[in-house]
Amino acid sequence: MAEPVIAIYPGSFDPVTNGHLDIIRRSGSVFDTVIVAVLQNLEKKPLFSAEERLGILREVTGSWENVKVDSFDGLLVSYAVEKGARVIVRGIRAVTDYEYEFQMALMNRRMESSIETIFMLPSSEYSYLSSSLIKEVYALGGDITGLVPEVVESSLRGLDG
Ligand code: PNS
Repeated sequence: MAEPVIAIYPGSFDPVTNGHLDIIRRSGSVFDTVIVAVLQNLEKKPLFSAEERLGILREVTGSWENVKVDSFDGLLVSYAVEKGARVIVRGIRAVTDYEYEFQMALMNRRMESSIETIFMLPSSEYSYLSSSLIKEVYALGGDITGLVPEVVESSLRGLDG
């Protein structure tokens, strides 16, 4: 029997959006196990701490049996090897994502040729969504209903208080 394929879906998830969740769901339907890997130490100060980002992701993916949530630091490929993963999943929204993703995928391949990066497209309704846009729109009083899970909305309200 073929070995189960473990995929890593890495990101900052500050905060997770419905676009990320769409990619997690699609990955879960293709790979045996998906590890959503939260980058702990972000270059820019995150809005949510690593613990908060992990907690939110665990809550919203809790009912998906083959999805696990974890955090990592350092090189993504080292973490992927440690987890026995064969695949790194990245979501591509538009052509503008391509250049950065292309660079990362080839650099990761140079460092660890056993791991393939696989790009997935989110549903078109989420193709313009990003965590930074969500933070900006929310901070300026715009409506983000339907673009992030409810727990993210309530966590954002919690930060206001
Ligand atoms: O959600 P993001 O911020 O686009 O995710 C970027 C992420 C976490 C995938 C990327 O920054 C990353 O892999 N960081 C870990 C450090 C690393 O391996 N850097 C070399 C990448 S070629």
